[in-house]
Amino acid sequence: MDYSIETAPLEELQCDCIIVGVYQDKQLSPSAASLDNSTQGLINSIVNRGDLSGKNGETVLINAIPGNKIERILLVGLGENKPLSGKNYKKALLAAVNSLKKPQIKSVVCCLAECDVEGRDWQWKSRHVIEVFSDALYQFTHTKSDKETESKIEKISVSATESNRALAHAGMLQGKAVAEGMELTKHLADLPGNICTPAFLAEQAIELGQKYPSLAIKVVEEPEMAALGMGALLSVSRGSRQPAKLIALEYQGGEKNAKPIVLIGKGLTFDAGGISLKQAPGMDEMKYDMCGGASVLGTLLAVAQLQLPLNIIGLIPSSENLPDGDANKPGDIVTSMSGKTIEILNTDAEGRLLLCDTLTYAERYNPEVVIDLATLTGACGIALGRVVSGLLGNDDALCNELTIAGEIANDNLWRLPLWEEYQEQLKSNFADMANVGGKDGGTITAACFLARFAEKFRWAHLDIAATAWRTGPTKGATGRPVSLLIQYLISRAHTQNISG
Ligand code: BES
Ligand code: MN
Ligand code: ZN
Repeated sequence: MDYSIETAPLEELQCDCIIVGVYQDKQLSPSAASLDNSTQGLINSIVNRGDLSGKNGETVLINAIPGNKIERILLVGLGENKPLSGKNYKKALLAAVNSLKKPQIKSVVCCLAECDVEGRDWQWKSRHVIEVFSDALYQFTHTKSDKETESKIEKISVSATESNRALAHAGMLQGKAVAEGMELTKHLADLPGNICTPAFLAEQAIELGQKYPSLAIKVVEEPEMAALGMGALLSVSRGSRQPAKLIALEYQGGEKNAKPIVLIGKGLTFDAGGISLKQAPGMDEMKYDMCGGASVLGTLLAVAQLQLPLNIIGLIPSSENLPDGDANKPGDIVTSMSGKTIEILNTDAEGRLLLCDTLTYAERYNPEVVIDLATLTGACGIALGRVVSGLLGNDDALCNELTIAGEIANDNLWRLPLWEEYQEQLKSNFADMANVGGKDGGTITAACFLARFAEKFRWAHLDIAATAWRTGPTKGATGRPVSLLIQYLISRAHTQNISG
């Protein structure tokens, strides 16, 4: 995909379609008004005829403009004539791109960034044109014989005025980095478990490191894990023929001694539940149990592309969770790298077994903060639905920063309590703790388990079990929470620049 900023007058543009907005009260956006002028009132006549009411998300494609160089104009309803909410801005963009998935349309110029959006500047508006368009144009064809995609769009331009060019350009670069990061995340997530194995993920990280020399890649293999005492992680992978990998991506964009931000992503390339086998319906979706790991890869791709002035470490513990003669059995007790013992009452609560050893491993980086991303509990979808990811952590400031980043990125988080009272549910008669806490508050008790391994640093946990992919007829990865993570990192780099 080719991205650019366009400041030339609309009448002179060479593209297959120009996208402009119209409000509900028939008010035309500035670009729509200017095109109306150069087309003898064509747009006003369409609006006055009632063919476009201006409702947010409504579209009309004008596909022939006699006597004019312009090929096509897409009119997009914006809703009420007032600053748009961020959500409505996104909705209008999405409607626009979805109506342009036609073979004739290869290049588009989007003029919607000129609309006022509540509390957002040109940089944000430009970034979101790129993010929303690229996201909507993603199509997984890798394992289909017919690789034809619905859309042929290969060039997206954001129209800006000369005075806004710099901000629009900065937004475009951010949007491009997020879009490419999300694309990698979605692609890896959508791949099936027989292709995307732990070794495959490690290979992907190594390739990313070859493409971006600022990323140093290290893969910890099982013998080294054993030497480190990662008994919890290894107990899960023992039930699989695929060896586990702990993938580390090290990015040093900040000062040599600056403490790094560590991102940990759960990388279960397939989770059948182990001996506590899951039921058959929907089990295919457990190929998505590596979405946290894929998000770490996507985020680090974007970080490397944006050359953020921060030190960032990505850690992806990756394994399969399968039933096997050598798999964990309910009641088994393992010793984690921290020395704490764990009674595995349910082998399907495997994510926390990988994450706990990775949290302990993260200590060696002397982290500024640690954020883990995990498709950890089905209970998170029961509590919050598929709209928002769960957030839990031991540091209010970090949780607030992440929540704000989520709002800016339109990739939201909702915090759940991580109170001492819940820890009781993890009591075990035979080990330091059990790996499950019963049916109540499953997302919270899972985080309580992790918290016991995150006492040495500021830490937040994102439960993305219900947001990382869509289920049903549009089944597919969403690329969440890459956008929010990049926003968090960009914000951090920014405050650091101001205060430092
Ligand atoms: N990967 C699953 C969580 C999950 C389930 C995500 C369904 C999305 C949809 C995780 O490993 C798991 O199986 N968790 C168990 C925990 C339980 C045994 C305490 C769950 O949610 O059922
Ligand atoms: Mn599981
Ligand atoms: Zn799992």
